Amino acid sequence: MMKMRQLAVLLALLAAALAVSCSDAAGGAIRAQLTRADAGRGLTRRQLLRRMARRSKARAARLLSASGSSPASATAVPGKGQAIDTEYLVSFAVGTPPQPVQATLDTGSDLVWTQCQPCPSCYAQDLPYYDPNLSATSAPLPCEAAACQQLDLSSCGARKWGNRTCVYTYSYGDRSVTTGSLDADTFTFDGDAGHAAVPGLAFGCGYFNNGLFSSNATGSGIAGFGRGALSLPSQLRVDNFSYCFTNVTGSAPSPVLLGLPANLYDSASGAVQTTRLIQSPANPTFYYLSLKSITVGSARLPAPESAFALRGNGSGGTIIDSGTSVTLLPPLVYGLLHDVFVSQVDLPVTNDEPLCFAVSSSSSGKKQQVPKLELQFDGATLDLPRENYVFEMEDGGQSNMCIAIMSSGGGMTIIGNYQQQNLHVLYDLAGNNLSFVPAHCDRV
Ligand SMILES: *[C@@H]1O[C@H](CO)[C@@H](O)[C@H](O)[C@H]1NC(C)=O
Ligand SMILES: *[C@@H]1O[C@H](CO)[C@@H](O)[C@H](O)[C@H]1NC(C)=O
Ligand SMILES: *[C@@H]1O[C@H](CO)[C@@H](O)[C@H](O)[C@H]1NC(C)=O
Ligand SMILES: *[C@@H]1O[C@H](CO)[C@@H](O)[C@H](O)[C@H]1NC(C)=O
Ligand SMILES: *[C@@H]1O[C@H](CO)[C@@H](O)[C@H](O)[C@H]1NC(C)=O
Ligand SMILES: *[C@@H]1O[C@H](CO)[C@@H](O)[C@H](O)[C@H]1NC(C)=O
Ligand SMILES: *[C@@H]1O[C@H](CO)[C@@H](O)[C@H](O)[C@H]1NC(C)=O
Repeated sequence: MMKMRQLAVLLALLAAALAVSCSDAAGGAIRAQLTRADAGRGLTRRQLLRRMARRSKARAARLLSASGSSPASATAVPGKGQAIDTEYLVSFAVGTPPQPVQATLDTGSDLVWTQCQPCPSCYAQDLPYYDPNLSATSAPLPCEAAACQQLDLSSCGARKWGNRTCVYTYSYGDRSVTTGSLDADTFTFDGDAGHAAVPGLAFGCGYFNNGLFSSNATGSGIAGFGRGALSLPSQLRVDNFSYCFTNVTGSAPSPVLLGLPANLYDSASGAVQTTRLIQSPANPTFYYLSLKSITVGSARLPAPESAFALRGNGSGGTIIDSGTSVTLLPPLVYGLLHDVFVSQVDLPVTNDEPLCFAVSSSSSGKKQQVPKLELQFDGATLDLPRENYVFEMEDGGQSNMCIAIMSSGGGMTIIGNYQQQNLHVLYDLAGNNLSFVPAHCDRV
């Protein structure tokens, strides 16, 4: 039995090695489908906002507890990734024959992982758990493998097929942790141009997945799209990728593209905005942006540019994160934003964080006036449409209008996915630029 299995694995590895050298699948364009995690589950707006707020707060609590007593040092970056809130799931398959996986698209972390049989500690998921025994191309990676060396936390597991294999532990900002075997297998992407199979990608076969992960929110795992070597874009060696998030309350699928056509924006309806991507040696996973200021209505928040800037010691900074839902601001900046909205909106305040106003029932049906919200980056302006920062909901018979922005509790600013709805966002990794343009995401 073992001998046959060993032979099969060796043959599969050989086939994989050959496939890599005779096709350039890893350099070609890949299109995968994105769906919103809660699509079709009929959550009310109030449930959605509650959930986003709760998860963002879990992350904030972690930030503060990690920073000790001094609020100034709360600028430290939590774990490796950010809290996972309202998620967009990317669909692909792992193994031969392919087993379907739906994983949270997360630009705030690197590792790609999926729950894995025999699954001693897994949360319930809709899809069957990935089973390496059912894949002819699955192989655990040896401890010496380059991918294993990339992990911050790994150890050498049991001797298997003559080699000691790589055991990983990967934690997220909200204390969620996944532990399992670092494996390699063939990934299949299902796109417009048919199937693209890429052999030998390293991923976490997650046996112990604990924390805020849940089937409804996380899918069967997380697809790291960060800047580190283990992320999907890095392993596919693409020069760029893009995603387009449909309405947070909608259910239409949209694409994520890896290795894009150059004429992507030829038919764009609005002006394409471009700003630099900044890298930090202290936190090589994150996509930092140079946010300079925030404008509410006609008032520019009296926050210095340094409130958003990455510091020499790696603290602070502004990142764009697909795995966090509502944008999070440093507490002082959140306070300024709160006060400027309160001074410009002539309605009673019903909640301070997120900031909500009571809307009289006589005016319901007609949309309440709300000040414009704009984020100014170096070279680009994100002029947010109303639905990208206003959230209307009923609570106990009261109509509320809420602003979907909260405090990070620390020094970082995190641009969340709520603020990225109906935008096509392109990460030009080769050129170190980030571009975005308004789009009908279900038609990209
Ligand atoms: C997930 O969604 C199902 C179906 O809508 C629901 O019954 C279940 O309570 C949800 N689970 C969590 C953890 O939210
Ligand atoms: C980083 O530097 C800032 C000031 O530039 C300081 O307030 C902060 O405490 C420092 N953080 C760490 C973790 O050293
Ligand atoms: C996979 O196969 C191995 C070796 O035959 C066996 O020990 C293990 O229990 C199997 N795992 C599952 C999840 O079936
Ligand atoms: C064992 O590890 C060595 C060194 O990384 C590698 O060359 C070899 O292919 C591995 N053997 C198997 C069966 O995976
Ligand atoms: C994306 O990268 C590919 C090469 O990998 C390049 O041909 C294409 O022009 C790039 N697209 C954009 C929009 O930068
Ligand atoms: C990045 O964007 C800037 C501003 O649009 C542009 O001038 C520059 O050519 C871009 N860099 C690359 C490498 O595409
Ligand atoms: C998103 O929702 C807003 C308001 O609910 C609506 O006006 C807009 O047309 C929707 N956009 C898309 C692309 O569905």
